[in-house]
Amino acid sequence: MTHTITLIPGDGIGSEVTSAVQKVIAATNVAIDWETVNGGEEAYKATGKFIPDELLESISKNKIAFKGPITTPIGTGFKSINVTLRQKYHTYANVRPVKTIPGIKTPFENIDLVIVRENSEDLYKGIEHWVTDGVAEAIKVITEKASTKIGEYAFEYAKKYNRKKVTAVHKANIMKISDGLFLDSIRKVAEKYPEIEYEEVIVDNMCMQLVMYPENYDVLVLPNLYGDIVSDLAAGLVGGLGLVPGANIGEDIAIFEAVHGSAPTIAGKNIANPTACILSAAMMLDYIGETKAATLVREAVATVIKEGKATTQDIGGTATTEEITEAICNYITSAK
Ligand code: NAI
Repeated sequence: MTHTITLIPGDGIGSEVTSAVQKVIAATNVAIDWETVNGGEEAYKATGKFIPDELLESISKNKIAFKGPITTPIGTGFKSINVTLRQKYHTYANVRPVKTIPGIKTPFENIDLVIVRENSEDLYKGIEHWVTDGVAEAIKVITEKASTKIGEYAFEYAKKYNRKKVTAVHKANIMKISDGLFLDSIRKVAEKYPEIEYEEVIVDNMCMQLVMYPENYDVLVLPNLYGDIVSDLAAGLVGGLGLVPGANIGEDIAIFEAVHGSAPTIAGKNIANPTACILSAAMMLDYIGETKAATLVREAVATVIKEGKATTQDIGGTATTEEITEAICNYITSAK
């Protein structure tokens, strides 16, 4: 069966790392008909629109997209395309597995946690305005509906993958109403899963706990902003943003993308680590039912990194993006 999937190459290192994904999937022989439609700065230069209509039509039709990172201007300019797409398609769960990869030098071992980040509201609603000169206000939106939904996703995920504990991360000691509602909603969900341990940790303490005892954590469920920040922190524990995959999951639409951004300072140099995108592609293969291929891709990545002969600079090697991709493809081809 051929799967038709929208491919958004994105900006910066996007085209380098998404082309690695296409090569790796081709090596597995899973038949994908990629519908390539760009969004972001590159798309703007070509079409005058950051999100061309063709892109929206393609995602609505195919219901699955693989996305490279998209640049968002800081402090001024247009609203994040990433946030816009997540809100438009209501991909309410941002799922980011963070796992120790043998062969990567970090001070930590045995990290195996999954970040489940609420992806549709919180401060990322983008509701902000000037109150008066020198005073700005941003509105944090937390709803019982979205908090319950992400809680249910986290516990169902834990149940499906035989995980033992869910930790809700919050700041309800200060934001008693908004984070209080988040926490209350998750607690109600937790009551329905007595077999899964449940705990609550305040976000600042969570950051310290993760840096000191990351192996103690399993599934983390967080509102949008804390989820964003803690994801990068967690990525740092296992060797950096070049390694951590992700998926934006909705009711019937899913957009797969790495945690990292467009990394403009290394773009176009053939040195970006494509691993995070390749592992995001493995999550996508699982999602479309190609589980054997997904397992093979993970095995190929693990083997190439463990051998250490073709690794990129960010993880201590000297290989180019193309060389590590080729090594992963070669493993897949020979193992099939
Ligand atoms: P970034 O994730 O692009 O880069 C942070 C650091 O990690 C940089 O040192 C970069 O070189 C390194 N890095 C990231 N990915 C790497 C890879 N695959 N291989 C090796 N090194 C890698 O974050 P930054 O600099 O904060 O953001 C740059 C742009 O990306 C901004 O416009 C931001 O808005 C956008 N962004 C987009 C995201 C998305 O499309 N989902 C997510 C995060 C940021």
